[in-house]
Amino acid sequence: MWSHYPALLWLSSGAALLGSVQFGFHIGVLNTCESYVEDGVGAGSGHGASLVAFLLVGATAGSLVAGRAADWLGPRTAAILNNLLLLAGAGGAAVAPNLPALLAARGAAGLGCGAASVLVPRYVAEIAPVGIRGALGTLNQVCINVGILAAYLLGLPYSLGPASVALLGREVDWWRIMFAAGMGPALLQAAALALCPESPAWLLRRGSPGAAATALRRLHGAAFRPQDYGHKVQAAAQAQAGHSGAADAEEPLLTGSDDGGEGGAGGAGGQPAEAQQLGWGALGLKRYRRVMILAVALPLAQQASGINTVMFYSTQVFQQAGLQSPIVGSIAVGLTNLAFTLVAAVLMDRAGRRPLLLTSFAGMGACLAAFSAVLLLPTPHSLEGPASLGCLIGYITFFALGAGPIPWLYMPEILPQEVMGPAQALCTALNWSGNLLVSATFPAVLAVLGISGSYLVYAALNAGAWMFMFRYMVETKQQPVERIRALLVGDVLACSCVAAAADPPLGIADLPLPALLAV
Ligand code: GLC
Repeated sequence: MWSHYPALLWLSSGAALLGSVQFGFHIGVLNTCESYVEDGVGAGSGHGASLVAFLLVGATAGSLVAGRAADWLGPRTAAILNNLLLLAGAGGAAVAPNLPALLAARGAAGLGCGAASVLVPRYVAEIAPVGIRGALGTLNQVCINVGILAAYLLGLPYSLGPASVALLGREVDWWRIMFAAGMGPALLQAAALALCPESPAWLLRRGSPGAAATALRRLHGAAFRPQDYGHKVQAAAQAQAGHSGAADAEEPLLTGSDDGGEGGAGGAGGQPAEAQQLGWGALGLKRYRRVMILAVALPLAQQASGINTVMFYSTQVFQQAGLQSPIVGSIAVGLTNLAFTLVAAVLMDRAGRRPLLLTSFAGMGACLAAFSAVLLLPTPHSLEGPASLGCLIGYITFFALGAGPIPWLYMPEILPQEVMGPAQALCTALNWSGNLLVSATFPAVLAVLGISGSYLVYAALNAGAWMFMFRYMVETKQQPVERIRALLVGDVLACSCVAAAADPPLGIADLPLPALLAV
């Protein structure tokens, strides 16, 4: 069934997902080398929190403006241009002569990561055939973790002490090479996306159903079902089929009208045709209260789990917990996160989101409580390091099984189409600002409470998140859009016009990994 789809679909999804790899890379890049970076720009120690904060403030801002840029330029063009920010972030940090220059580069990288966190899921959702949208969506978190792990692996030379390379007759600190490596996926993404079609949903909203039909045919090949995309696309596809051999050419605009009513912001595929797009003000409406409470709580709970204290600072935490090779410990954390996110993707449509998320918060809380206990109780010194590593690996395993991937996957599943744009921007911005609150305060919290006290606080926050989700989380596994809507919004606006998927939804296990690796 997967081979029905043309290589262009895999190229376009893969190219877009390079944005998530960059998101992960910039989160992970300082973890293994922070003290050497501070030395290298002559800043002295104690700037870890600002280096993290500049990234996350930038990311919050980027996530708030990216939707507008995508509406204006098209998600693909916006994502291509976003690489200018990501290039400036990676390249600027690689050559930064001093702390202000480095902070500016971190801010630029942050803007780019925040924008990518909105543009990637949107473009992928808008090009994906209905039946595989969930599976492709799950790859977002997988690719974030690929980026984090790649950044940790690049730090491996620091496990032996200070590291540098000779370049053009000069000794260059290794961390500069690490940052420079971040330019690779930015260049690759810009080049690859230039070969890909613009989002069909955006073309349609711009009043170009002919161009939308052409893009959909190129992306979905023989599996293209014009009837899933409303009468304008259907008419345009029929007109194209009438012109023999014209189907592959970029169609001239068939209509100049842009009534904004067709193809919701969340995707051209199977979305309610008449969903009128509403603005930010609508998020406060009473009818959306239940769904917004849940949508806002998910990213906040994900961040309250304390995950980014580990993603940003695991090397430092392992050092303080007495682990002999803290960088190797961080790499083990990155590997575990990636491996169990893949496991979660397989389980997602079998076990369901709710049991996975509840298991995740319960497991994370227990592992952090155990971590604190190992450090508080009189544990033999030689056991402290390995026991700490075991607890944190357990914690990451539970994160990856639920709290990591589910918020990104669940948000577009529950948000009503007509408020998707502002609601997704709000939830993504809350994800980044929650991250900021946790990660920028962590060095200070660590200084006051120590590792055991700090992680006891996070154990309690995980218990709170479990209780909240136990009360509010509804299952969306195998649920049609109209049922989710009936549960959370209480009306059936979307029912009549949601096109059924041609095939039953597939899980990530069904993805043709060889085809993905090939693009
Ligand atoms: C999720 C979180 C992000 C975190 C990452 C770690 O994507 O949103 O903040 O860094 O998981 O895997």
